[in-house]
Amino acid sequence: MSSMRERIYLSSPQVTDIEIEYVTAALRSGWVAPLGPDVDAFEAEICSYTGTAHAVALSSGTAAIHLGLMALGVKPGDDVIVPTLTFAATAFAVHHAGANPVFVDAEEQSWNLDPALLNEVLTACAASGDLPAAIIPVDLFGRTCDYAAITKIAARFEVPILEDAAEALGSSCNGVSAGAFGKAGVFSFNGNKVMTTSGGGMFVTNDPALASKVRYWSTQAREPLPWYEHKEIGYNYRLSNVLAALGRGQLSRLDEMIKRRLANRAQYEATLGQLQGVSVVMDPPWGPGNAWLTNIRFDALLHPDAPEAIRLALEELNIESRPVWKPMHQQPVFAEAKSYLTGTADQIFADGLCLPSGPNVTEADIALVCDTIVGVLNS
Ligand SMILES: Cc1ncc(COP(=O)(O)O)c(C=O)c1O
Repeated sequence: MSSMRERIYLSSPQVTDIEIEYVTAALRSGWVAPLGPDVDAFEAEICSYTGTAHAVALSSGTAAIHLGLMALGVKPGDDVIVPTLTFAATAFAVHHAGANPVFVDAEEQSWNLDPALLNEVLTACAASGDLPAAIIPVDLFGRTCDYAAITKIAARFEVPILEDAAEALGSSCNGVSAGAFGKAGVFSFNGNKVMTTSGGGMFVTNDPALASKVRYWSTQAREPLPWYEHKEIGYNYRLSNVLAALGRGQLSRLDEMIKRRLANRAQYEATLGQLQGVSVVMDPPWGPGNAWLTNIRFDALLHPDAPEAIRLALEELNIESRPVWKPMHQQPVFAEAKSYLTGTADQIFADGLCLPSGPNVTEADIALVCDTIVGVLNS
């Protein structure tokens, strides 16, 4: 059976004739060189989708975090607060900026930065006269952070926020779009995200000075002179016009693709939500998410071995599933980093699992995943 059927992926990209038309038009227009009208239009469309004033299309979300930190004035040797429960790129970008990630644990509801702990950490840092240069809250798996709490705490200590909304385009918190909190925000258009440019990212902000700084660094820090003149170190981080065209096609179908993800999660919830000791993680009360990846959790006492046993049983059927991001404080590369922990991220990593969630996943696929999970739990 597994050899007959195509693999069911966690989150595979979906490309239709619409995207093919956009990319073909870009190629026919001759704008194959980096930058061009599709980049400008893509930036404008992301601004209008997210309600932000400025957007800069970049080669990746990681590049956007890197330049975003520099634009916020983060300097080599500074500390930057990062949730321990995130994908490594958040912390890697801090390193690229020469700064040190300081890891803070998660809260249970959204799995994002714990506001109470953040407040404690900043209070202690302020007392020792050693505040971090920035905070990067991450909207994990498409669920926004508790921004009502986090923005208030950050403002009290005057520490700027750079929002890592790489996974959260289309999500919101109290009616405001993901990416629009803090001084600036970042999206990823990597192949596994809610929409893709095959690889790419976007920096968004309401501050024109931040946008122009990021734009400048991302195009090799060129001075506006006839010859190549450089007063600062630059980067080659811009998105190509052809990829921006793909992004425009995807963005035109984003709401429809998010609807599919929400329907997928609802189908999982309808079946798995009935089982004892199993929960499907839904949106936090402060705002609807994009259901990027459906996450489930198992009661550690009732089903201690379930996540790995289920992952292996699904793999046997050629179905991809994956543990939740392994916390950064557990990563060998960050063994020396400072961490403030409650044990929540470790627990989520131990008892969570990500299930096939993309727009290509069918009702029959989800039924098969659910049957397999029920089978393992009953064995
Ligand atoms: C939370 C988070 N931050 C940053 C990134 C980095 O984005 P990119 O792959 O576009 O560099 C990703 C995804 O890859 C992510 O999931």
